[in-house]
Amino acid sequence: MEPGDRGTTIADSTLNLASIIEPVSAQLALVRKRVMDAVPSGGKLAKLSPPAGHILGKHGKYLRPALVLLACGLCGEKPKAAVDYAAVMELVHVGSLVFDDLLDGSELRRGRKTINALWDDQTAVLTGTYLLLEIANRTAFEIKPVRQVVMRTLNSMFQGEVLQFASHGKFELREETYMEIITEKSASALSASCHMGALAAGDAGRAALVESFGLELGIAFQIRDDILDLVADPGKLGKEPGSDLRDARMTLPTIHCVRNATRSDRRFLKSVFGLNSGEKIDMKHVVEIARDTGSISFCMDKARSLIQKAIPRLDAFEDSPYKSAMASLCRFAVERDY
Ligand code: IPE
Ligand code: IPE
Ligand code: MG
Ligand code: MG
Repeated sequence: MEPGDRGTTIADSTLNLASIIEPVSAQLALVRKRVMDAVPSGGKLAKLSPPAGHILGKHGKYLRPALVLLACGLCGEKPKAAVDYAAVMELVHVGSLVFDDLLDGSELRRGRKTINALWDDQTAVLTGTYLLLEIANRTAFEIKPVRQVVMRTLNSMFQGEVLQFASHGKFELREETYMEIITEKSASALSASCHMGALAAGDAGRAALVESFGLELGIAFQIRDDILDLVADPGKLGKEPGSDLRDARMTLPTIHCVRNATRSDRRFLKSVFGLNSGEKIDMKHVVEIARDTGSISFCMDKARSLIQKAIPRLDAFEDSPYKSAMASLCRFAVERDY
């Protein structure tokens, strides 16, 4: 719980991601192998082996693959049926991260230098494009509903990134626009992962339900990401905090903060907005202002209420370890510190 958050502290054990996703851990190991298969081994693409191996070789939370597998189990099928679909969703995610880091000019991802920082922008463009094209080489992509979900998701993520790009530098960004950006660029991938799990289970009838669950979870997840950008411990986060403000991207906590700050605090926030010049932002002061304005609490309340809406959607499914894991993932998404 950060300064300024009125919420309850959840015992650490319930926030342990590895134990939450334990019901699908064996299948996740198979997914990792399928994801690593995407690293080109030689031939014409040999030049992309080091950057692709660099990003794919450092695993993140693997949340999207976990959601595919859990949603499949939730719909009554063995999660193994969903391994290939889960690998596809991780490739969608990592491909989008490579482009996102290039666009954001980020230097750190998963605790490692980004491809654009370690190599160059050209290498990042080629690697990101390669990862997204690699999806089309997967046999899962031959299945029409899978192809439709993947293409719809890539389309959404692209639109979200473009809207974010168009909103760059807008200090007075509207909350509605922010919500649209995060729904498209980020939540769409979590909802698609849930949908893919239902498809793998052959439960097209309940795909829309589990997809709605994933969308609310995804919006809450991104709101938390935007809070972490302000308050996280850099060592734990694996990427540079403060980058949204420094790179002139307004997010929910800063939108609320600007709206409610005193005139002099607003002036200070404006002075650090887009200060991408190597000068260090006084993040402690930013967090103090966010606390005074109740902005962290406001965002946490919003994220928690989305989760409160998402969890009851699981009532339509029989009790199972997958169902409990999905509810716990919701809590993890909004209370996590990395
Ligand atoms: C990062 O996603 C991009 C966002 C949508 C915030 P994750 O936080 O799931 O990234 P990894 O996969 O764990 O690195
Ligand atoms: C999410 O947005 C990016 C994608 C969905 C690709 P962010 O820009 O906030 O993600 P991070 O903070 O770089 O991981
Ligand atoms: Mg980014
Ligand atoms: Mg972020």
